[in-house]
Amino acid sequence: MNYNKKSVEDIDVAGKKVLVRCDFNVPVKDGVITDDKRIVGAMKTIEYLVAQGAKVILCSHMGRPHNVLDAELKLDKKEKKKIAELPAEEQEAATAAALEKGKKDITKLSLKIVADDLTKKGIPVTLAADVIGPDAQAKAAALKNGEVMLLENVRFHAAEEKNDPDFAKALASLAEIYVNDAFGTAHRAHGSTAGVADYLPAVCGYLIQKEIDVMGKALEDPKRPFVAILGGAKVSDKIGVIQNLIEKVDTLIIGGGMAYTFFRAFGNSIGTSLCEEDKLDLARELVEKARAKGVNFLLPVDNVIAREYKEDSTFMRIYSDSIPDGWMGLDIGEKTQELYSKSICGAGTVVWNGPMGVSEWENFAGGTRAVAKAVAESGAISIIGGGDSAAAVEQLGYADKMTHISTGGGASLEFLEGIELPGIACLLDK
Ligand code: 3PG
Repeated sequence: MNYNKKSVEDIDVAGKKVLVRCDFNVPVKDGVITDDKRIVGAMKTIEYLVAQGAKVILCSHMGRPHNVLDAELKLDKKEKKKIAELPAEEQEAATAAALEKGKKDITKLSLKIVADDLTKKGIPVTLAADVIGPDAQAKAAALKNGEVMLLENVRFHAAEEKNDPDFAKALASLAEIYVNDAFGTAHRAHGSTAGVADYLPAVCGYLIQKEIDVMGKALEDPKRPFVAILGGAKVSDKIGVIQNLIEKVDTLIIGGGMAYTFFRAFGNSIGTSLCEEDKLDLARELVEKARAKGVNFLLPVDNVIAREYKEDSTFMRIYSDSIPDGWMGLDIGEKTQELYSKSICGAGTVVWNGPMGVSEWENFAGGTRAVAKAVAESGAISIIGGGDSAAAVEQLGYADKMTHISTGGGASLEFLEGIELPGIACLLDK
């Protein structure tokens, strides 16, 4: 896999129209952005382009609109077909309901909130009313050097997620250069994340560059010992990562709900803990493979178990071989915290994806907290996968102690699985 991609600094952008794909898919509650990390993360590239005198056209998706409406607020083809299949007397009401739903999605998932936020942060941004329509075209044509505009949510067009070449071509026609800086969406082969690169010279922005530099280096040439910590509920979500990392790491630490599938696979009773019965053979194979490779494969030696899956459930600590019936494991225990912290302490590189327990509940957050502390104090190159582990590290106050917190949830997972991400593969090699 080639992680050596051309960046904004390798191409002359002065006076050029530059289409920048960002991941502005930020959480919004009651009309307020609750976490602006992705917006802040995109600013370095935007500011660089502005300083170079480029005409900057930003684009992004927000959420998963249902593609009921096209950009002209007409019913999408698929929706029309669905309605046509209904009995004649139901069609009028179904059409009205679909139009209403589509309009609501569009208002809720407009990127206006992002344009306003960027403007507040000191980058004045004009929002186009559409993506490839007349308003976007007129605003793009009128851009002056150093000005910034934002297109509406690219997913208002069903063609975006289908990676439709006509859509990608129309998007590309707004600009002369394409910059992908949307790491969080780089695992999607969509029009604005990959398709557009067929029509424009394509390079990465600073955010993607940092993600691939840090994570790519960790996978290809890690400072050893290389320790991976994998948590989360299900083995099935992490199979690809475990398989890829077994080939590369010195120590593999397992925590979270998925540990219980491993225990079950080796005949331990696990009470009512989470278990994927259809993954028991796989769990055994993974442990055997790790052994054969000489990887130190660590499973919890003790656990915090609870009566019920509830924040205020009765709980106690117990060794892994004696989980009683009617109890479920919700966190790693203190002995395991010590064991894991010791392994992390001497690491050269640590990659962490997935919490050790139900970290959002205080009684079951101890394991994740201990691991976060150990990683923060290890002095190792520390890489935190996006999603739950990133949220836990932030919530526990260790974010600024980590070398890198990925802005991608699904994307960082696929990257660690060794999958070539379409949004990166489409960029020009150095
Ligand atoms: C994310 O939040 O993980 C990215 O923005 C990708 O969103 P998606 O899963 O809807 O493609």
